[in-house]
Amino acid sequence: MNRLDGKICLITGAARGIGRCCAEMMVSEGAKVAISDIDDIAARKAASEIGNDVLALQLDVTSLEQWKAAILGVCADFGGLNVLVNNAGIIVPGSVESLDEDGWDRTIDIDLKSVFLGSKAALPIMAHSAPGAIVNISSISAMVAGHNMAAYNAAKAGVHLLSKSIALHAARKGYGIRCNSVHPAFIDTGMIDEVVRADSPRQARQKLAKQVPIGKIGTVEDVAWAVIYLASDESGFMTGAELKLDGGLSAM
Ligand code: NAI
Repeated sequence: MNRLDGKICLITGAARGIGRCCAEMMVSEGAKVAISDIDDIAARKAASEIGNDVLALQLDVTSLEQWKAAILGVCADFGGLNVLVNNAGIIVPGSVESLDEDGWDRTIDIDLKSVFLGSKAALPIMAHSAPGAIVNISSISAMVAGHNMAAYNAAKAGVHLLSKSIALHAARKGYGIRCNSVHPAFIDTGMIDEVVRADSPRQARQKLAKQVPIGKIGTVEDVAWAVIYLASDESGFMTGAELKLDGGLSAM
């Protein structure tokens, strides 16, 4: 409890899945949280279910204008910004041959360019509220490729190295802002149902679990605990680093 006391946090794509769980658990740890999502109705619903003082914002992470407005909104309500969790993401399955240009562009824009835009917009404000942290939700797909994950692999690998570049820039500027990336493997959210072909959601999860050395897929809480650690001052000497949450998948 209270590992994030007084921290002001903005989470993208937080109406559901991993982002929503991060919001709930960060509030439990004492943070003031702004839930943002392209789906503003779902964001408002999630915020009201989590607590009275949770802020809901509409933010399409591909728009620099919307980023600026969202960050101003957080500052107006909470008085600053300490933690940015770049979580919003999509998967458009497809190989280098089968994926069309639109699928490539959407994936790169939502999964990778968003991290550039958000960090660019947030850093000057975060520097004023330091110490702070940017936590980027990449994926184990940044390190382990799939034949039908051309855009997703490229975008998440981009997030991995962009996180290090942001970390070094912030360090050089003396901002007191750290930046790290998180690399989950299969996590039990709606994203799995969108990409895994199976007769039922249960069968999809069993299929994925067989690929993981510890024999199960991850939970949204598994990711949220890592995000809380990276967002808190407990990880004060950690920047430009990556945390793999993959049940041993990448150790094979
Ligand atoms: P999800 O599909 O449950 O939630 C994604 C959220 O992002 C949704 O609320 C959606 O409305 C929002 N979103 C989509 N486009 C947006 C945009 N342009 N602007 C703002 N919000 C937008 O997905 P999940 O599983 O919670 O994934 C969260 C992050 O974790 C993603 O970056 C994903 O790539 C990553 N991840 C997920 C894994 C999994 O197995 N579920 C594994 C590894 C990484």
